Amino acid sequence: MARKIAVTYEKGGCGKTTTAVNLAAILALKYSKKVLLVDLDKQAYSTSYYIKDCRDIENTIYEVMTGRCEPQQAIISTPYKGLDILPSCRRFREIETHLMMMTRRQEYLLSSSLEPIEGSYDLIIFDCPPSGERIKENALTASDFVILPLIPDDFALPGLIQISEEITEIRRFTNPRIKVLGVLITQYENNLNKRAYTQAFKSQELLPVFNTVIRKNTKLSEAINHHKPIIEYDSRSNGAADYLSFSEEVINLINKEDEK
Ligand SMILES: Nc1ncnc2c1ncn2[C@@H]1O[C@H](COP(=O)(O)OP(=O)(O)OP(=O)(O)O)[C@@H](O)[C@H]1O
Ligand SMILES: [Mg+2]
Repeated sequence: MARKIAVTYEKGGCGKTTTAVNLAAILALKYSKKVLLVDLDKQAYSTSYYIKDCRDIENTIYEVMTGRCEPQQAIISTPYKGLDILPSCRRFREIETHLMMMTRRQEYLLSSSLEPIEGSYDLIIFDCPPSGERIKENALTASDFVILPLIPDDFALPGLIQISEEITEIRRFTNPRIKVLGVLITQYENNLNKRAYTQAFKSQELLPVFNTVIRKNTKLSEAINHHKPIIEYDSRSNGAADYLSFSEEVINLINKEDEK
């Protein structure tokens, strides 16, 4: 059965999509895992990251979650071996209303919608949106693990406290198995300010923090326009080195959990 990982955080623009698309590709290409990247954002950035022309996509996560098609009919293979994507689209903005209208078990809709394909993958990665409480709740309910990318600044700690409280509630009410793999510091720059914040996050005891920090690296933004994971776009960049090191930490943590 696939292990499921939610990449989420309270704030926009902190590297969720960059982390989800690159982690998914590295797990497929370097670790030979069968990976499904699920785009849960109506902006569909991770979909357009790997699918050059999205205009002809008929079935998406919206159709899957609203019962209009089976997940198998929506999943698209990418040019990268082992990496498939369950795309999103603008229609997905209506999912919050759909979930609100459900009278029973709305937190479990994503989880139950993906059941038919779970056995076909080693890992399923959810790229979560910056807003949308109900879809985030669905992603956390469906997941075994959570990764929290954040930019080390003044706003990060209140966000971290909030998500930590949310995860505690999820654990209590809908998903007792959920585990935070770690906070991932992104867009790191080697200056006094960022060093101090990074140190502060690494020494807090609320949530675990990955040893790897993702440095600010323009190659990561450039790679988007080429629709390639960073390890294919520029394997010698800092972005590639950092995401490889982070992915190794992820694999080691998951293996450790599996051994328990
Ligand atoms: N380490 C980095 N170095 C430089 N640029 C980065 C880095 N990580 C992300 N970016 C850039 O920052 C922008 C926001 O990143 P990304 O889309 O991954 O964030 P997000 O959390 O998914 O945003 P949203 O909340 O809108 O979904 C993008 O243009 C991306 O290319
Ligand atoms: Mg995003």
